[in-house]
Amino acid sequence: KDTSETAAKRRAGESAAERVEDGMVVGLGTGSTAACAIDALGRRADAGLDIRGVATSFQSRERAKAAGVPLASLDEVDAVDVAIDGADEVLEGGNALVKGGGAAHAREKIVDAFADDFLVVADPSKLTNALSHPVPVEVLPDARTTVSASVEALGGDPVLRAATRKDGPVVTDNGNLVLDCDFGAIDDPAGLATALAGLPGVVEHGLFVGLTDEVHVGDDDGVRVRAL
Ligand code: A5P
Repeated sequence: KDTSETAAKRRAGESAAERVEDGMVVGLGTGSTAACAIDALGRRADAGLDIRGVATSFQSRERAKAAGVPLASLDEVDAVDVAIDGADEVLEGGNALVKGGGAAHAREKIVDAFADDFLVVADPSKLTNALSHPVPVEVLPDARTTVSASVEALGGDPVLRAATRKDGPVVTDNGNLVLDCDFGAIDDPAGLATALAGLPGVVEHGLFVGLTDEVHVGDDDGVRVRAL
């Protein structure tokens, strides 16, 4: 059933997929909104568009295979022309996101940052005037307690992400753990990003600062595109 939210995600995904041109390498994001873009790219590939997709997670790889998007691995391509990815929170009036709700943010950031153009796809529920979503921090298993202590010293409240269908923690596609770190309202995303990146044992955090080129927000009527 196409609810208002699913229609908004579909419109955003289709809008971003329209940016892709023949011969491009496309970064394929993770989550339900990015999946709409992958499906749209699959339809365009069926219609003859020559593209290769670089997946950012197990989930996006499987989605691309089902949708018929030809795949390449990151080490097989010279460049990523455009990456299309969702977000858990999008800062209005700035260039910052919180990602990693699906624990895929490490690979997402590698691909999204490498892309010539990074397009974010979202429904209106993701937009905010101040980022406050807990920041997912992927850590080496050995660094769980030391990073937790450092996050607390930075004013955050770290919670080890638990698995829902098994006992114990979520293990990422890279074999690591995730701490969801609640900092309340984040008034300096760039400063917090630098502080988190500097902690020993942090593989990657979910603050994406200064990386976005366009935000495609679907709603009930259409799509609003904001260029950054
Ligand atoms: C994956 O780790 C996240 O960064 C996703 O991009 C994010 O959770 C968006 O997912 P939805 O589009 O399903 O909200």
